[in-house]
Amino acid sequence: MVDTLVNFGLGALVITFLVALYGIFAALYGNFQKQPRWIESAKNAMLLTFPLLTVAVSMIVILLLQNHFEVSYVSQVTSLSMPPYLKVTALWGGQPGSLVFWSWLMSIFASMVALRNWDRDREFLPWVIVVVMVTLAFFLLLSIFFENPFARLWILPTGQTAEALFRPSGATILTPSDGSGLNPLLRHPGMIIHPPMQYLGFVSFVIPYAFAMAALITGRTDARWIRITRKWTLWAWLFLSMGLVLGMRWAYDVLGWGGYWGWDPVENAALMPWLTATPFLHSVMIQEKRGMLKRWNMFLVILTYDLMIFGTFLVRSGVLSSVHSFAQSAIGPLFFAFIAITFVVSIYLLSRRWEELHTETEMTSWFSREGFFLINNLLFIGILVVVFWGVIFPLLTEGLGFVGDLIPSLRDVFTGQKVTVGPSYYEGATGPLWAGLLFLMGVCPLTAWRISTMKSLGRNIWKPTLVSFVVPVVLVVTGMSNWWAILAFWLTALVASVTLYEFYKGASARSRRTGKNFLVELVHLVRRDRRRYGGYMIHFGIILMALGVVGIEMFQTETQSTVALGETITLENYMITYDSLAEFDTADNRNVARAVVSVYEDGQKVGELYPRRDYFYESQQPMTIPGVRSTMEDDFYIILVDWQPISTQRATFKLYHNPLVNWLWVGSFVLIFGTMVAAWPEKETEEIRAVAREARATVGD
Ligand code: HEM
Repeated sequence: MVDTLVNFGLGALVITFLVALYGIFAALYGNFQKQPRWIESAKNAMLLTFPLLTVAVSMIVILLLQNHFEVSYVSQVTSLSMPPYLKVTALWGGQPGSLVFWSWLMSIFASMVALRNWDRDREFLPWVIVVVMVTLAFFLLLSIFFENPFARLWILPTGQTAEALFRPSGATILTPSDGSGLNPLLRHPGMIIHPPMQYLGFVSFVIPYAFAMAALITGRTDARWIRITRKWTLWAWLFLSMGLVLGMRWAYDVLGWGGYWGWDPVENAALMPWLTATPFLHSVMIQEKRGMLKRWNMFLVILTYDLMIFGTFLVRSGVLSSVHSFAQSAIGPLFFAFIAITFVVSIYLLSRRWEELHTETEMTSWFSREGFFLINNLLFIGILVVVFWGVIFPLLTEGLGFVGDLIPSLRDVFTGQKVTVGPSYYEGATGPLWAGLLFLMGVCPLTAWRISTMKSLGRNIWKPTLVSFVVPVVLVVTGMSNWWAILAFWLTALVASVTLYEFYKGASARSRRTGKNFLVELVHLVRRDRRRYGGYMIHFGIILMALGVVGIEMFQTETQSTVALGETITLENYMITYDSLAEFDTADNRNVARAVVSVYEDGQKVGELYPRRDYFYESQQPMTIPGVRSTMEDDFYIILVDWQPISTQRATFKLYHNPLVNWLWVGSFVLIFGTMVAAWPEKETEEIRAVAREARATVGD
């Protein structure tokens, strides 16, 4: 049975790889020989990758579900005690499985792009196929030759164990009686959907990049590629954003340090493409409306693509644990080479079209919408530079240790040791830039394209600004003295009042004109310009998230204490009493220590919390699960740090008070909703159909 599954799975992987190579060849041949049939065949090859990879993925899932521990990957990520749903998620719980999963998601996007209506953009098709298939072929190459999920475990004649795809001479198969099980930290609902979202966000960015490259190669460098890819980019951006938020939630619930974002390199790897994709979404509007920033948009999409591969590289190559383990890893240098090659080729293509991509109009006013978008772009790139530097600096100090040996004055920098770049660096350097973005987000919707003066801006903005000042006044009157926090709250109030004012202004004008109900007109308003109002909803989501961030970053308090049964710990207006602690083994091979604490707020008992520590015997790893009391005002978050196993008379608890943190999660729902409003497919209008008919007539279809 296992042989059949492995053969089918491996066969499907290899055939997909060959199909991808064929697709590249057929698309190039068809293009240069002017043979549309070859291009059609390449398109079919692209479509074929999805069913083929579905076979490969299904075989891995069956192997996981049926506990075939003789397959090395299965023994690493599952165990007998894991429930079936967790075994399925183990598909992306380790390196080999997640690379195949990545390719499978890529094949879904490849098929979707193949199935779109190409009537108006035939010349892009071969190049889109080439870019998508090259990316897919690269990942399949890694899966087949370096990180194969179908490799099996063998006992060599020497008695050693080895992992290999085919039987080494004289070896016998090794079938462990149980596997190590999925890393306990990954057994969380957030972690179950976080990686697929993150990967979806990553792979779907290949599509805008492919169109950009097609535009550069064919010379059709007008805004057409941008119009085609806007929806793709928005969906990709949504997946990426959801991946980030789910990762934050997972960190908050599972890592047990009271926070949601640690500026860890893995988090930064996911953030960096988002930091280029978000300004890209804005700056394409300048190209569409004003014919400006064409080169910049190309550069941003190239950067997003390469940062996406760089993110996967950071997480997968071993470079984060040490530069030396990267050098030893088989896939690390390959990733590095792929990033370098795609970046150099893309920049070369861009340079070839440099003159054609000249700007059509000049900036007439810094107070215009394009002026603000430009500053928005610069701020995002500023944050990217800070984050990028924070990620690579430790790698440089470690990897370039020899520079310190050669030049004594640089010995303090290039130490040959890994240095840690902590949250204070990131927060200090990016804080003002985030604040600047919030400010612009408040002002920009009130500006006009092309000509906007300080005076016209002032006329539009004074009412919402006046309303927003209520917030700092109330904060000062109620005794807040942290001026940074007051500034941050004022900025969120400014964006909120401008955004709501925009909705109000638009809907009430319509309502006056038509005589219909305000709410009905509000819905019509959004439906008529979903891009604009979807964008404003996204901004509203961002400011709700900002409230949560400001709350936890500026007002979090904590305390740690060891108490005996019945004793209390106090933090702010909360108090807990340690009531009891039970320690027991579970059927799924865990040892659980679960405390019961009563929570009092302002002297009143408001409930009980159950902070726990689970110890997983198979993987020998603990997992801290906090007890959390959540309200929209704050979270009261308790971690069981330590206890006396036999008597359970004393235990150590860490308590956090996290004001406003839940607005972070609420804001993310608003952001998702807004993005869906902006990205939802529109009905084909008669105008679009007419253009398509005309295009078909010109190509003689
Ligand atoms: C974290 C910060 C931000 C995020 C996540 C964000 C996200 C978005 C998204 C996704 C859209 C929809 C784009 C589309 O539908 O194609 C949008 C629209 C918009 N954004 Fe932002 N944005 C941010 C900051 C800013 C800033 C700083 C400005 C001001 C310079 C700005 C101005 C706008 C405007 C004016 C629109 C609507 C465009 C229209 O009228 O169609 N955004 N934003």
